Amino acid sequence: MSDLKAESMQANEKEEGVYAPASLGRTIADRKKNIKKGNYCEIPPFPREIFLDLTSFCNHRCVFCSNPHIKNKKTMEPDMVVRVLREAYECGVRDLGLYATGESFLVKSLPEYVAEAKRIGYEYLFITTNGALATPDRAKAVLDAGLDSIKFSISAGRPETYKIIQGKDDFETVISNLRWVSNYRKESGLKYRIYVTMVYTNKTKDEVEILRNIVQPLIDEWDPHPLNNQCGNMYENNKIGEILDHSPRARGHTNICFQPFKGFTITPEGLISACVLDYSKDLVVGDLTKNSLKEIWEGEIYRNFRKRHLNKDLKGLICYNCMHNQNEPVEPLMPEYVQHFEKDFEKNKDYEKAL
Ligand SMILES: C[S@@+](CC[C@H](N)C(=O)[O-])C[C@H]1O[C@@H](n2cnc3c(N)ncnc32)[C@H](O)[C@@H]1O
Ligand code: SF4
Repeated sequence: MSDLKAESMQANEKEEGVYAPASLGRTIADRKKNIKKGNYCEIPPFPREIFLDLTSFCNHRCVFCSNPHIKNKKTMEPDMVVRVLREAYECGVRDLGLYATGESFLVKSLPEYVAEAKRIGYEYLFITTNGALATPDRAKAVLDAGLDSIKFSISAGRPETYKIIQGKDDFETVISNLRWVSNYRKESGLKYRIYVTMVYTNKTKDEVEILRNIVQPLIDEWDPHPLNNQCGNMYENNKIGEILDHSPRARGHTNICFQPFKGFTITPEGLISACVLDYSKDLVVGDLTKNSLKEIWEGEIYRNFRKRHLNKDLKGLICYNCMHNQNEPVEPLMPEYVQHFEKDFEKNKDYEKAL
């Protein structure tokens, strides 16, 4: 039996009373193990886990990230947040990532959104943050409201390199915020999980151990990984690091992608994008101001997109560039929503320093 078929069968075992397939898991290790399990067909069960991109604004400028290059940034309107929290729960979503392309600690109402999601019944709310704004007062509000896990992204082990890689001199602040979050868990008795991820480049791979020694006593799990090409949006990243092809999250993988079958991101504009890294909006499959979540998930555009993945007919989609680590011309699924960005690497001094 093929791996894909075996994975697909496991995922078909529905939990009682819940339409969505089983959880991806609470630990990073479990998530990695489960990420490819899915129902690889034209209309899979509605996903258990999705991402709500509360804002595309960010306070940092990481050299390997597309965020600094995107124009027309936006924060999701409160009405849209409340609507999608309710609608997604009705569809079977139980696990919710409250971030995607930006920095969610910039959103003032984050604690209220976490509290509302918990009131509705979400089982697992998680966030990934650069941590610079997760100061004791802001972090406390979000954790007290019921956040289940917080992952700090720290992409260097020394303040000087951190400034070059993340574009802000925030290393000490972030470590101090992480320390506070760790101590607060002991003090408060809350059960949230704490993770640290580090994206390493050629310049920073020898800092992995340095950062590990600093953060490991404070956290549950540590996840250093090489940079990716950001869903085909950052071919330039090949210059600053090695894009590996053995992990689905590394991008540059050539077997089937789980993303079209297992979840999606709701953008700050209320669009549905089939991929969590779709900065250019090449993979928008629907608009919540026009259709419901379920209509979009089962709609023709999404189905055709999945069919192309099943048939390995990806040339012309950004997925081809992502999976094959290429830089070929791309046709968006819904051209009216595309947001190709100007890349200014030639002029970008940070990028040069990161080489
Ligand atoms: C885009 S950020 C958004 C959340 C938040 N701003 C943060 O930095 O954690 C989500 C995650 O993507 C990671 N990331 C960004 N660019 C990447 C790349 N080229 N390769 C691998 N991971 C990347 C970040 O380090 C972070 O852990
Ligand atoms: S990785 Fe996160 S912190 Fe860095 S620029 Fe991208 S969105 Fe901002």
